[in-house]
Amino acid sequence: MEEKLSFEYAPAPESRALVSIKPKYGHFIGGKFVAGSKHFPTINPATEEVLSQIARGGKSDVDAAVKAASKAYTTTWSKMSGKERGKYLFRIARIMQERSREFAVLETLDNGKPIRESRDVDVPLAAAHFFYHAGWADKLEYAGLGTTPKAHGVAGQIIPWNFPLLMLAWKVAPALAAGNTVVLKPAETTSLTALLFAEVCQQAELPAGVVNIVTGDGSTGALIVNHPGIDKIAFTGSTEVGKIIARAVAPTNKSVTLELGGKAANIIFEDAAIDESVEGIVNGIFFNQGHVCCAGSRLILQESIADEVLEKLKNRMAKIRVGDPMDKNTDLGAINSKEQLLKIRELTAVGDSEGAQRWSAPCDLPGKGFWFAPTIFTGVTQAHRIAREEIFGPVLSVLTFRTPQEAIDKANNTPFGLSAGIWSEKGSKVLWASQQLRAGVIWANTFNKFDPTSPFGGYKESGWGREGGRHGLSAYLKGVSHE
Ligand code: NAI
Ligand code: MG
Repeated sequence: MEEKLSFEYAPAPESRALVSIKPKYGHFIGGKFVAGSKHFPTINPATEEVLSQIARGGKSDVDAAVKAASKAYTTTWSKMSGKERGKYLFRIARIMQERSREFAVLETLDNGKPIRESRDVDVPLAAAHFFYHAGWADKLEYAGLGTTPKAHGVAGQIIPWNFPLLMLAWKVAPALAAGNTVVLKPAETTSLTALLFAEVCQQAELPAGVVNIVTGDGSTGALIVNHPGIDKIAFTGSTEVGKIIARAVAPTNKSVTLELGGKAANIIFEDAAIDESVEGIVNGIFFNQGHVCCAGSRLILQESIADEVLEKLKNRMAKIRVGDPMDKNTDLGAINSKEQLLKIRELTAVGDSEGAQRWSAPCDLPGKGFWFAPTIFTGVTQAHRIAREEIFGPVLSVLTFRTPQEAIDKANNTPFGLSAGIWSEKGSKVLWASQQLRAGVIWANTFNKFDPTSPFGGYKESGWGREGGRHGLSAYLKGVSHE
């Protein structure tokens, strides 16, 4: 008998038993969990299973949270030395590390992203943000941001669903290090890790009211934005909502930072290392299902190497493992929500009707849940909507160029300016291109690399201000330039 060798991966599921999810959650206000009044379900987008019921915060909840944050600011947090504040941040960071498996599993269940990413990217980076900012808490006078930098007071923070815990860390860690207290609202589809973080605050014995978490949808977010007791707003999400917030705070004294959308160019020059570039293209657009504001969603490819790169890219895409996010071998998980899936379908249908050529990796998508196969569009022109609008999914638009200047012109021809990638073996070309590109973050021969010490943020409709590093810290201090 002939024995057939199989190189299939065996299933490698992470254990769901690591987390206990309550059937219903309230808000975290003044150091305690308080009951909500109205609730909505949060589901696992990979299975459509209802995980829990999340409270929809109303006016009285937001009022209570702002009051608690304000009281904590005046009575405790603003009186405490930076050294003491730093101890709490270090403690939070260490507890996040200790509970990292729990956080990773919960994030994957609620968001749909592969466990490999929540375990190796989201959770360690979130802890790293607390460690990094813990170090700043007692050194604010030496950050070059003035001799006596002062906190704003109460920071209202609204975050999206693509990196729920990580975006919380980007917001909460610098706010606390700089001496502010916080009212945070997670996105409606992904509140569970923020609620677990509330438990971490209790475990760290963080003084009551320093961190308050009110769950809910856009209406809850708007209550935070418009609350007179809030001194600073920090938002990450769509450009559309960013504009609403900018209008709302314009006549007020509120300080504001906005991290919005992107349509990043990933430029491959003909002298680039092709195989490495293909890996970089895949990481740039298929990391986190493409739900990444700085995703390399526009591939700008030199014509002389276009055929070779596209052939290798398709071969590589055919090997992307799409499916159960809890399986440790999975590369691409579920789309976060039905709404987001419909948006991806709608924009890709526009791509078809405008004449671009669609190619999707052959893969069996699960029957339940929200799924979209890794897809590329070739023959895309600058006028196409799929070249201009953020799809926020695993969809790459491919454009080509002949001269380096044409690559730059195409890359910059966008209302956004968050990030860009350059692939070339020539250092001088990389430096030349990076100086021409209008983007806040530029990666050379790599993509989607994040570090708490590095400022992150965009030009034009990609937002205002920076997060991370000394620049990000300055946004949480009064009278300090944000750039
Ligand atoms: P969104 O901007 O509506 O949601 C982000 C956060 O803002 C959520 O917490 C939401 O509850 C809150 N929010 C919504 N309306 C608000 C308002 N009027 N005032 C205050 N807060 C409000 O994003 P959505 O609808 O989930 O996604 C739509 C598109 O936005 C995506 O397809 C994607 O293109 C883009 N997006 C970009 C993100 C980024 O990281 N740059 C993150 C999420 C979405
Ligand atoms: Mg929305």
